[in-house]
Amino acid sequence: MEPRGTAENAPTVAEALRTYDAQSAAIYDHLELRDGSIAAINGFVVRTLRDSGRVERVLDMTCGTGAQVIALVAAGFKVTASDLSGEMLRLARAKFADAGYDIPTHQADMRDVSLGRFDAIISMYNAIGHLRPDEFRMACANAADHLGDGGIYIFDIFDRDAMGHVPTHEMLDTAMEVGQSRYARFSTMEFNRKSGVLHLRQKTFEQKEVSKLRLLQHDYTLQTYSREELIDTLSGSGFSDIRILRVPEAAPGFNALGQLMHIAIARR
Ligand SMILES: C[S@@+](CC[C@H](N)C(=O)[O-])C[C@H]1O[C@@H](n2cnc3c(N)ncnc32)[C@H](O)[C@@H]1O
Repeated sequence: MEPRGTAENAPTVAEALRTYDAQSAAIYDHLELRDGSIAAINGFVVRTLRDSGRVERVLDMTCGTGAQVIALVAAGFKVTASDLSGEMLRLARAKFADAGYDIPTHQADMRDVSLGRFDAIISMYNAIGHLRPDEFRMACANAADHLGDGGIYIFDIFDRDAMGHVPTHEMLDTAMEVGQSRYARFSTMEFNRKSGVLHLRQKTFEQKEVSKLRLLQHDYTLQTYSREELIDTLSGSGFSDIRILRVPEAAPGFNALGQLMHIAIARR
């Protein structure tokens, strides 16, 4: 068996693909879109793009199941969606069709996706954490290549400097019913101070009606970044007017983990 990530190991693209496999994609919306956190992030993105006054075309480089895409299209933006995971994209496409939205979708890697010119690029909910620092620099340079002068890049990410507050005990982070199904997810987080890598182990129990419990396990790593590291990488890719905001202030309503995250907004 391939070795799983550890706090010493950097994330890999292969690991990101495993993390969003068919089983986890199927329950992603139940577990991740559950408590208003993504709605808070989406509200921030819509406000920021509207306030900028001149954004029409938006590329979501890590659209997942389409949470931000749907919010942006509903707000009147013209959105193109791309993501690494075929499984996440399959669910996104089904949701777009249900909503009656005609949205171009692409399976692609944010490091080298090439889709033309946009007014804004977004990559939300810790997606860039799946890249190593050198790969994050590639994704930033690629975002810059997709933007005209004054174009905006927005992403959120775990704050390396806040990681001292990561709970080290196992947590029951979700317990919920969806129709006749019940879900309980236990998570453990371990942070490596030297590498800035956060290692997450998630055990999700699923019970459909009175069937046997099914256990889904995911074990993955996310690279974290300090404010200075973000500014350094963004300015190295030609971005200016860089703002790094704390999630609790920028996106009120995000759950307790928002204390550990920040949001970057930069202009080309
Ligand atoms: C936590 S999900 C966030 C999805 C969506 N933005 C949301 O808020 O629900 C992270 C997403 O990043 C995608 N991802 C990870 N690495 C990627 C890469 N190298 N290129 C493109 N997408 C990637 C994953 O497939 C996953 O859909």
